[in-house]
Amino acid sequence: MTTEKITGTKVIDAEGAYITPGGIDAHVHLDQDDFPNGDTFETGTRSAIAGGTTSIIAFALQPKGQHDLEKAVDNYFERTECGAYCDYGFHLILSDPTPEVLKQLPRMVERGLTSLKVFTTYPMYKINDSELLDVLLETRKLKITMMIHAENYDVIKYLNEKLEQKKLTDPYYHAVSRPEEAEDEASYRVITLSKFVDTPILIVHMSCEASINHVENAQKKLLPVYAETCPQYLFLTSDYLKAGCEHHVHPEDPFEGAKYICSPPLRADTTELDGVWRKIQNGTVTIFSSDHAPSIYEHPNGKKRGLINGLPHYQHIPNGLSGVETRVPLLFCYGVETGRITPQRFVELCSTNPAKIYGLSETKGSIGVGMDADITIWYPKGKMLPFELTNEMLHHQIDHTAFAGMTFTNWPKYTVVRGELVWDRDNGGIVGKLGFGKFLKRGASALAGPRKELNPILA
Ligand SMILES: *[C@@H]1O[C@H](CO)[C@@H](O)[C@H](O)[C@H]1NC(C)=O
Ligand SMILES: *[C@@H]1O[C@H](CO)[C@@H](O)[C@H](O)[C@H]1NC(C)=O
Repeated sequence: MTTEKITGTKVIDAEGAYITPGGIDAHVHLDQDDFPNGDTFETGTRSAIAGGTTSIIAFALQPKGQHDLEKAVDNYFERTECGAYCDYGFHLILSDPTPEVLKQLPRMVERGLTSLKVFTTYPMYKINDSELLDVLLETRKLKITMMIHAENYDVIKYLNEKLEQKKLTDPYYHAVSRPEEAEDEASYRVITLSKFVDTPILIVHMSCEASINHVENAQKKLLPVYAETCPQYLFLTSDYLKAGCEHHVHPEDPFEGAKYICSPPLRADTTELDGVWRKIQNGTVTIFSSDHAPSIYEHPNGKKRGLINGLPHYQHIPNGLSGVETRVPLLFCYGVETGRITPQRFVELCSTNPAKIYGLSETKGSIGVGMDADITIWYPKGKMLPFELTNEMLHHQIDHTAFAGMTFTNWPKYTVVRGELVWDRDNGGIVGKLGFGKFLKRGASALAGPRKELNPILA
């Protein structure tokens, strides 16, 4: 051991604490047209580093009718010109996969967008099963990671009409309009289609045990089917959507439930939350992401868009919650510190698995020689006074958080991105520089691509 003093080196005291790989949040919506007052690349990545996340993957969206993917994606690259505090990449969202559009996918792979997302629901983005088969064939050929939002569109549309007729339009009915059955059915269907085409899929933001059971059954047959879940499905129930809920920061505001609208929705009771925890514990869930998709509450185009002439209309409330900053601390406090999961499982879910699935594992997702020094350093267990979260503690530009009032027993003390200290909780907070974050040109997933010969019918 050398005793020579190394100069110019910042010494960080991590004595007694866990040092984990920086979080990779692979599901973050920033500056999208459909979230006109969400977070920008500046505010979203600022929030990320303050919560121990060192890389995020955001979305570049192809609107229906835009058949020039290059143009659609350029438009999202322009939105990063404000600069970012941590590294970032893009998934492509395909909402109109015509044959002409699919021909442009190799170019997207060249640009480092090696994953794409499709929706089975939402009128603006929904693709049907035949389009999904077309896309799956391309992702198989190009080894693109395929992410699917799985909820049955027709069921939701049907229930929306029923609820509208009955004039049941409070925020709570958002959850009623998207029952578990809608996710259950669509999850099973997309798994079946991916098996037919012989290509891996990852079902995003899975919210209940019933649908994750389909993933587990597929995994038992050694099919490459992966699942993502998010903090909201571990901690919050649909009671939060009801007026006057005891957990609300402003229980006197009857529209407060709008803040908890996300899709898939929060589920009905705590036994559901336990079900998702079990799937986290036993390895079925592959990655843990935030699905950060916030909208300001007090804004005519934010959550308040759903309050028309003083009357609530859940169908007009922008969907989504903020969560890029709270994701890693929530799983650390309620998973690792409570003993529900091991620190190893925590690291897999928050860092290593997203790196593998999204073509980042050469430099990100673990601590090792040759890897980027993306590191999160915690307080030694019991050395931090537990505190209750308030929105003012967070670094997004949103006026609320769904996790307000929750107790945290730990929080990242330091966040390091590529060797640079960017978050120092006790000395200055955000100490990183805007513009330090780099675009991540991602490679192929370690897990994508075909397993066997293509079914001749599909050739
Ligand atoms: C799916 O949607 C596409 C594009 O709108 C349409 O051309 C196709 O006919 C639809 N497929 C089925 C089976 O309805
Ligand atoms: C997860 O739990 C289920 C049900 O208890 C069990 O069948 C399955 O084998 C477990 N999977 C893993 C990877 O432990």
